[in-house]
Amino acid sequence: MIQALRGMKDIVSPDNEKFVHVLKTAGEIAERYGYEYIETPLLEETQLFKRSVGESSDIVGKEMYQFIDKGGHDVCLRPEGTAGVVRMFIQNKLDKKGGIHRMYYHGPMFRYERPQKGRLREFHQFGCESFGEGSVYEDFTIILMIKDIFDALGIGYRIKINSLGCPECMPGYREHLIAHLNDIRDGLCEDCQRRIETNPIRVLDCKVDSCQALLKEAPVITEKLCETCDADFSTLVRLLDAHALPYELDPKLVRGLDYYTRTAFEFVSDEIGAQSAIAGGGRYNRLVEFLGGRPTPAVGFALGIERILDLVEMPEERREGIYLGVMVPEALDTIVDLAHRKRRDTKVFAEYNKKSLKAHLKAADRLGAEYCAVIGEDELAAGEIWVKNLETKEEKRVAIREFD
Ligand code: HAM
Repeated sequence: MIQALRGMKDIVSPDNEKFVHVLKTAGEIAERYGYEYIETPLLEETQLFKRSVGESSDIVGKEMYQFIDKGGHDVCLRPEGTAGVVRMFIQNKLDKKGGIHRMYYHGPMFRYERPQKGRLREFHQFGCESFGEGSVYEDFTIILMIKDIFDALGIGYRIKINSLGCPECMPGYREHLIAHLNDIRDGLCEDCQRRIETNPIRVLDCKVDSCQALLKEAPVITEKLCETCDADFSTLVRLLDAHALPYELDPKLVRGLDYYTRTAFEFVSDEIGAQSAIAGGGRYNRLVEFLGGRPTPAVGFALGIERILDLVEMPEERREGIYLGVMVPEALDTIVDLAHRKRRDTKVFAEYNKKSLKAHLKAADRLGAEYCAVIGEDELAAGEIWVKNLETKEEKRVAIREFD
């Protein structure tokens, strides 16, 4: 039998309801924060990700679903959403328009990683990107929005934050870090030794215990920030304190994508095992320019939907709509008219088979209707309908003309 590919999952019951609930909740909150929904293609030129996520990153170096299409173009399935949104932003000349543009999206992302719990090869993200606002208050607002989303979904989290500096302070720090890494080079794993040349910052994030032991004394960027980056980072920390958000400073948080400047953050859950990052993001003030657009500050995040599904608390189901049934077939015409009238403002479940009152009540209950309304012989003769509120259990007979 043909099976789904390794690391790729169908989203079926009971996860499908949670999946839709996450998208709806996150989308509504993002709209309240002024974001508008956009879509970008799943397939992009490979070069886009090489230039934005970075050639030395694991995502681009090892994990891309890359191939040559029938026209000979080097393309790949998107491993993340930000690069495509920035490409779209520039292609649609939004960078030239100026002003602030806030957008949200969701959809599948593809990374050829080794599958394990919480790590898939096809997974879904919900993401937001804000262009044109350079203030650190926007970084804070994005963190607050993620808090609102997780609170609404009933999910607990811790926040890790760091600053990755800017072109003014990062190069100096980098030199400093490289000097230190060269001193401890022999004790580092092979990957780290290679990264000293290709991407020294990523060494800080190595998962090998012996490397982490050696990195204890490594210089941290937050001590080498320039005045502006330092002031912004202090403001962010002050705002997080003032709003009592559960954050910790993590100077080794470097993220797996190369485009970040200044703020970087991750939301982690302690309830889902090793793959604990449930959302990640930060500022990327250089990326628009780097991909050929007008210099535009930007900040954003994405959350991994599959990683949070087991944590989502579904809201209590509320009864909704009216069930309409008959106990005598002569009442069917009345029910059809009534159903049509009622559908203008509520959900209607019309049943066209005559049944006993007990059977109608059972069916209405199973469908989750708020009201069960039935016409029997007596009601038909009197021009009335029998109505029961299945929530309050209240019963009454009302004139069909006045049944609103
Ligand atoms: P990211 O940290 O690579 O950031 O991914 C964001 C989230 O996607 C992660 O926190 C995790 O929940 C989920 N995720 C990542 N990889 C997998 C996987 N293999 N299986 C399941 N879930 C996964 C980004 O992608 C950036 N584009 C975020 C961003 C937007 N930064 C600025 N704007």
